[in-house]
This record gives sequence, structure tokens and C-alpha cells, in this order.
Amino acid sequence: MKIAIIGQGYVGLTIAVFACKDHRVIGFDKNAETVLRLNKGISHIEGVESRDLKMAIASGNYLATTEAADISDAEIVLIAVPTPLTADRKPDLSFIDSACKTIGQALKRSALIINESTSFPGTLRDYIKPLVEKYSDNKFEHLYAISPERVDPGRTDWNQKNTPRLYAGLTQEASDQTRKFYSTFCDSLIEVSSPEVAEAAKLFENTFRQVNIALVNEFAEISHALGISVHETLDAANTKPYGFMKFNPSAGVGGHCIPVDPSYLAYAAAAKGIPATFIERANEVNLEMPKYVVARVLADNGGSLQGKKVQVIGVSYKPNVADVRETPAELVIEELKRVGADVNWHDDVVGRWRGESSATLGGAEVAIVVTLHDLVDKKAVLASAQYVFDTTGKISGARGL
Ligand SMILES: NC(=O)c1ccc[n+]([C@@H]2O[C@H](COP(=O)([O-])OP(=O)(O)OC[C@H]3O[C@@H](n4cnc5c(N)ncnc54)[C@H](O)[C@@H]3O)[C@@H](O)[C@H]2O)c1
Repeated sequence: MKIAIIGQGYVGLTIAVFACKDHRVIGFDKNAETVLRLNKGISHIEGVESRDLKMAIASGNYLATTEAADISDAEIVLIAVPTPLTADRKPDLSFIDSACKTIGQALKRSALIINESTSFPGTLRDYIKPLVEKYSDNKFEHLYAISPERVDPGRTDWNQKNTPRLYAGLTQEASDQTRKFYSTFCDSLIEVSSPEVAEAAKLFENTFRQVNIALVNEFAEISHALGISVHETLDAANTKPYGFMKFNPSAGVGGHCIPVDPSYLAYAAAAKGIPATFIERANEVNLEMPKYVVARVLADNGGSLQGKKVQVIGVSYKPNVADVRETPAELVIEELKRVGADVNWHDDVVGRWRGESSATLGGAEVAIVVTLHDLVDKKAVLASAQYVFDTTGKISGARGL
């Protein structure tokens, strides 16, 4: 089949390399630089090897493009564009809108349109379908379905093949065709009764993580005040064989999902007059963590970091990825600057960020580890400054949460 994927980022490109083993895939992206590099076989995301991309291109089954006309004869169109928040933390569906415009105006045949982007329940039925119809002047009767993406970038044990996938169509025919498509590269498909259930399940999965991360972060503060080790306590609790799932404290949450998706659920709740209090509180706790980390470092350093050289180690939002979206490292750096510290950062996985290059490890009086990549030598980190505060709980001998 000929598949078009709108958006060639973490989600769209990951699907593309799996799907192009059995289908011809057109990866449409607005970013010309991304498209240029993809067509040279250079992957820009973790989890997609350039080697695999080159093989896909050589097989003739993959082409990246900025030309909407290239998707005109696609039988299936996947939407994989960002769904961020506006400045006042409301859903920003402008990328979905733009994707629907491309699809509506470019498609010259009836197709199955599947949304993989995360959004609130009702997005497929009340937003995507009417928009595509509007932009295509109702020329074609398309099928519509949702299959929310569960990819965890950088993870190798769970991938497109073995991660179970939810799906639902607006009609049974759409559901059946969606199953047929994904079953060419995914082992386990679970049909739910409506697109709204699939959309809500995705939001609840990430809200579950966000709330539990906030809970463990709050518990880290409580444990410190009580004078007990949060990590030892969590390990002890984790010996219970049922009814407990271990989450680890950190400097906060980042990425395109955990800090964002719960606010889509809160928005849907507010529209029905229900306050999403857990979500709001979890957001607050997680966003306060960078300040708490800096307060702990201040307390250990005589109450002042004025003029002190401080190095933040690991600035992506999680280990082994270069993704800096919503990274808590940014808030840690802002807070350090606010209290007068002379800050730089070290992260060779990220390399360049905010117009700066990663500094060499060391040379500071104080180091704060926000993210620890596998390639980083823990002993070198511990030796990199007189005082090291580790938010990851992985460097023995350092101060930490
Ligand atoms: N990153 C993840 O781990 C992950 C996991 C599951 C679900 N999701 C969801 O998947 C969706 C995509 O996320 P992502 O991480 O892949 O984003 P991304 O930023 O990595 O990639 C999005 C791509 O879409 C392109 N784009 C934006 N608007 C476009 C348009 N109108 N037409 C064509 N291309 C356009 C961008 O240039 C970019 O390359 C979001 O809804 C996100 O919440 C992400």
C-alpha cells in the first residue's frame, strides 16, 4: 500500500521505518532541512538508525518530501504532528489543523486517515474529520481512525512490533482497515469501542505517570525532611510483590508527553465542569522540583551560590536521548542564574542547545546532575567538582534527593 505520514519526527519517522518493510512510505514534513537529511539517510532521532533509513531508501520504499502533491494518491495517511500547549497551558491544535489542510487539499482519492498524535477525546470525530472535509470541499469520503502512539524514544526492549497498540475507527470499516494496516508490523492490536476511548486511554496512561512522578517527588522532599533515604525507602517498598509500582524522584518531568498530555485531559474535564485537581497539583509539584533542587544545593553551600561556578550535567529530559523539550534542566539553570550562580552545562548527547555548546566536564565548584546518560562516567562526574548533587540517585558518594 502507499502510506503517507504527516510529520517525520519521533513518532512519524519511527513508524515510517517499520511500515516501509511492507509498504511504500512517503514521509511528509514541513521542515525542509529535516527532509533533506532524511533523504540522505541521516536519522535525526534516537531509536531510528541511519543504517535502517538508508536501507529503506535503497529499497525504493521510503521518500521524505515537503511537497504535498506527493501524498495525493496515498491509500492511508497517518497524522504524527506535535500537539503542544499554548502559553496558558491549553491544547494547541494548530499543527493538527495544518496537517488536515495538507491532507484535505492534497489527497486526490478516498483514503483511510489515522491520527497518531495525542489529543483529547473527540479530536478525531469533532476536529480532524470536519477539518479534512472542509479543506477538501467534501470531494472524497474518507475513513477515519485513531491509534495513539506509545513509542518511548531511546527504548529498545519495547518497539513498534511488540508494543500492543490500541485502535478504533469512526466506522467498523475504518477499524477493520486500521487493524489490517498495523498488523503488517505490529504483533498485538486491541480494538476499543470508540475513538474517544482510545484517545482517553492514551491521556490516562501519561497522566498516571505524571501523577506518580509528582507523588514520588513530593515523597523525596518528605523523606529528606524526615532524615531518611528516599531511594532506600522506595527499594524497601518495592519488595512488595503486588499493588506497588516504583517511580524514581527527579528534577522534574520533560519531553513532549508527560508534562503536556495530562493538561489535555484537564482541558477535556474542564469543558465538562470537572476540576482535574490531581493533574493540576502534579503539574505544580513537578514544576517546583527544579527550585527544590537548587534550594537543597544552596542549603549545603552556606545559603549562597553568588558568583560560584556551577555545572549542570545532563540537560536532555531523560537518559540517552538528545530531546530537550520541556527539560527540567532549563528551569534548574534559570533558578541557578536567579540566585547569582555562574552556570554552564555539560551534555555530549545533546551537544548544542540554546545557542551554546556542551562545556567540558568539570572546572566548576558545584555540579548538579539532572540527567545521566549511559555514556557518562559516574566516577568522572563525582570527581568533576568539590560538591556534586545528583538528582538521579545513581551516583554513590554524591549528595542527592
Ligand atoms: N515523542 C514521543 O515519545 C511521543 C510518544 C507518543 C506520542 N507522541 C505524540 O505524537 C505526536 C508527535 O510527536 P513527536 O514527538 O513525533 O513530534 P516531533 O516534534 O518529534 O515531530 C513532529 C514533526 O512534525 C513536523 N510537522 C509539524 N507540523 C507539520 C505539518 N503541518 N505538516 C507536516 N509536518 C509537520 C515537524 O517539522 C516535525 O518534524 C504528538 O502528538 C505527541 O504527543 C509522542
